[in-house]
Amino acid sequence: MQGKEHDKTKQPGVLRGLSGKVLLLTIIFVMLGEVLIFLPSIANFRIQWLKGRIAQAEIAALAAEAAPDQILSTDLRSEILMGAGVLVVSLQKGESRKLALRSDGDYMIDASFDLRSTMWYGAIMDAFGAMWADETRVISVTDVPPNMSGDLIEIALREQPLRSAMFHYGFNILLLSIFLSLLVAGMIFAALNWVLVKPMQRLTRNMVDFGQNPEDFSRIIKPGTRRDEIGIAERELHDMQTELATMLQQKNHLAALGLAVSKVSHDLRNMLTSAQLISDRMANVEDPTVKRFAPKLIGSLDRAIEFLSQTLKFGRAQELPPRRERLGLGELVDEVIEAAVVKTPSRIVIMNTVPPGILVDADREQLIRVLTNLMRNAIQAIESSQAERRDAPDGEISLQARREGSVTVIEVRDNGPGIPNQIRERLFQAFQSAARQGGTGLGLAIAAELIRAHGGDIQLQSSTEAGTCFVITIPDQVTQLRTGRNGDRRTSRKA
Ligand SMILES: Nc1ncnc2c1ncn2[C@@H]1O[C@H](COP(=O)(O)OP(=O)(O)O)[C@@H](O)[C@H]1O
Ligand SMILES: [Mg+2]
Repeated sequence: MQGKEHDKTKQPGVLRGLSGKVLLLTIIFVMLGEVLIFLPSIANFRIQWLKGRIAQAEIAALAAEAAPDQILSTDLRSEILMGAGVLVVSLQKGESRKLALRSDGDYMIDASFDLRSTMWYGAIMDAFGAMWADETRVISVTDVPPNMSGDLIEIALREQPLRSAMFHYGFNILLLSIFLSLLVAGMIFAALNWVLVKPMQRLTRNMVDFGQNPEDFSRIIKPGTRRDEIGIAERELHDMQTELATMLQQKNHLAALGLAVSKVSHDLRNMLTSAQLISDRMANVEDPTVKRFAPKLIGSLDRAIEFLSQTLKFGRAQELPPRRERLGLGELVDEVIEAAVVKTPSRIVIMNTVPPGILVDADREQLIRVLTNLMRNAIQAIESSQAERRDAPDGEISLQARREGSVTVIEVRDNGPGIPNQIRERLFQAFQSAARQGGTGLGLAIAAELIRAHGGDIQLQSSTEAGTCFVITIPDQVTQLRTGRNGDRRTSRKA
């Protein structure tokens, strides 16, 4: 159907196979985990760095405070500030705010941060802000003084050193993450590979291998001792393969047997045909004994030949898939009855009670064969019971039908003697159900096969001494919608 046949023997490529997928997924998830760790850790790094600066600045401020008369030379002041790495320190105690130290030069505060009230997501945003921001940014930071020298400390500083420290830190973390991801991904991959992928590959390889020659018992999987799902799968597969291989072997034997039977039947039929020719001439002999037995002999031969012909036909016949169309069932039944009436004794009436307008979606020839078969069975049954008992009632056979939703239901009913109990079980199995003389037990088997090929069913609804009723159900074909691709439409119906 599809243009591209897939090559079963080929294992999927590394990236399309299970192991590739597992590897990719582990790397992605470990990376994701690393990112989730990285975000808070870079934010924390920045805060700790700033807190360090604040601590230094506080000490610097305290030192300045301790200077005699609190007056410092300009040089000393810038030295102290430079040592602390800040531009301005301001300590606040109570209500009195006092500027402790301030270095020379002009600068504008570009951004202010208050470490006392920063939430975690704010800290993450600020960290990214710092890495993104302009190199020359000057920021001010407010916090509680770590040495408790006041209520509030505020510093101003150039952000550049913080930025480069963060980049440095980030780079280290990145290297570490890559190393860790590879390590963890590698370990997870190895574990999954060992626990899942390898056994899975073993299973698929075995399935493909077995599929290529399912009759080879040595290709059946040898199940391991695992107790998990894979172990179960292996054992189930093992059972299935064993069963299949056994069945195939059996089928081969049966096929060979069938072939032998058909050869025998063929030869036997030819021999019987010669016997028939001879016995035909015996019918003309005037001897009264011969005259008495000749018709019986001829009858037996006829039946034997018919039996063999049927058997041969069944062995050869590969029923074609039904070529379905919508048919008027009433007209079709008329046709079947007309063909049968010629050979029907006068004490049997066949009635067509199919309501007009009933349609059936079926192969015309095959449905005719099925109905003819059922009808002929009924005729034969009635005929033989009438031959046995003079008082048997007149025969009546009726064919009726109805629609149930999208299903056509056909009933073939007769008032014959009923089906013998011992063959009811195997009525639809070939060669199993012949109860009458000369019957092959093929008729119903073939009928069932044909109906099942239509997705339908044939069943014995009832069979008593007062009559028999067979029911056939044939569902309408599901209309195949256009599939869009040219060419595929042809699969719905033979042209
Ligand atoms: N309508 C019927 N009434 C009674 N017996 C039937 C009826 N249909 C089938 N049978 C029994 O079922 C057997 C199997 O029928 P079938 O499969 O057509 O094989 P065959 O007709 O070659 O014997 C018949 O031999 C007959 O004994
Ligand atoms: Mg029959």
